[in-house]
Amino acid sequence: MSTFQAPKGTYDLIPPRSAKFLAVREAISAPLKNSGYGYIETPGFEDVALFSRGVGESTDIVSKEMYAFETKGGDQLALRPEGTASVLRAALEANLHKAGNLPVKLWYSGSYYRYEKPQAGRYRHFSQVGAEAIGTEDPALDAELIILADQAYRSLGLSQFRILLNSLGDKECRPVYREALQSFLRDLDLDEETRRRIEINPLRVLDDKRPDVRKQLTGAPMLRDFLCDACKAYHEEVRDLLTAAGVVYEDDEKLVRGLDYYTRTTFEFVHDGLGSQSAVGGGGRYDGLSEMIGGPALPSVGWALGVDRTVLALEAEGIELGIPATTSVYAVPLGDEARRVLFGLVTELRKAGIATDFAYGGRGLKGAMKNANRSGARYTIVAGERDLAEGAVQLKDMESGEQAPVALDALVTTVRAKLA
Ligand code: HAM
Repeated sequence: MSTFQAPKGTYDLIPPRSAKFLAVREAISAPLKNSGYGYIETPGFEDVALFSRGVGESTDIVSKEMYAFETKGGDQLALRPEGTASVLRAALEANLHKAGNLPVKLWYSGSYYRYEKPQAGRYRHFSQVGAEAIGTEDPALDAELIILADQAYRSLGLSQFRILLNSLGDKECRPVYREALQSFLRDLDLDEETRRRIEINPLRVLDDKRPDVRKQLTGAPMLRDFLCDACKAYHEEVRDLLTAAGVVYEDDEKLVRGLDYYTRTTFEFVHDGLGSQSAVGGGGRYDGLSEMIGGPALPSVGWALGVDRTVLALEAEGIELGIPATTSVYAVPLGDEARRVLFGLVTELRKAGIATDFAYGGRGLKGAMKNANRSGARYTIVAGERDLAEGAVQLKDMESGEQAPVALDALVTTVRAKLA
């Protein structure tokens, strides 16, 4: 081991487990690519103010967990703690909302950074695949996104997840509720920090997990009873569309998310096999975010699914993804002359799209065959001087153990036919 280790709260993705991460990213993005979402990539860091204004000064993400720093040039930057503010910033900067049809539909995949207290399922560097639909207020769009996430998880074989759904109201009804909630909370017996939270972000107090706080929260005014008619009708429509699509969800009037930009529809995907870090994904509508970061009014909705936690969910459910062996053919040369010829054949096989590897390092036959086995290859090609003199190589089926000579110039077509 070297003297260095991955920083606290981070871990390396290494084979074979890393293949699951690729497969999860692929499974989550496939339904998006199939539904009009275009791929977007933004920088790993942004102006710190984008997040403090967008995600919210009062959130844990901004106030406690952001990797903020000053550059040598004096710029105040932060490693991105989430993707929504960046994607919206990029869409506005490129004028995508003016270019044609709304909504602008984008998907992304990348690394995010939060200075959290590390524990199982909670890391300081993690990865998300996300989707944002910008510029349209339409309950069908909210429903579409939830349906696509559900489809992604089902395509992975996951079944022990639940979808929690809520509406957080809009700029008409939420302020009224906020005041009612604040006056209820101010009368409770709470510690200093929680009292401060009542003034800054009272909805988050509802999220408090401590039993003594929970007990006092019974009878708190609920947002549901304060929703204006427009928000109520919107939410009903989202629920109806989900039901019609066969998506099972649970109404959770206590669901408040850890980011300030949400309005109306909010949802979380939770997995029951993950312990305390059970949220595998989350999202919602953020109709005011564009204006908060200096853009025009652009009602939008999106989600991000955590890749790390999705992999943990797969493992919790004991799901094997059936990821095929990366190598189909393994070439083992016996002697220098065979080495040159087989290396050429390996390149030809690869050009033909056949995943091929080679016994490097001039090890003996026994060691090379061990490596061939470990690679998971279906076929091994073995050749020595005598084979080459006859213009052939030995093709060994690693499953049946059968071996037969194949002419050099017929190798690619033979192997391709056998693998098909
Ligand atoms: P979020 O709920 O903060 O939402 O994060 C989404 C997902 O990222 C979580 O459900 C979780 O799976 C994963 N995640 C978050 N923090 C960590 C961590 N420390 N370690 C491991 N996984 C983590 C957002 O980020 C919003 N931008 C989602 C969104 C998109 N809303 C609208 N559009």
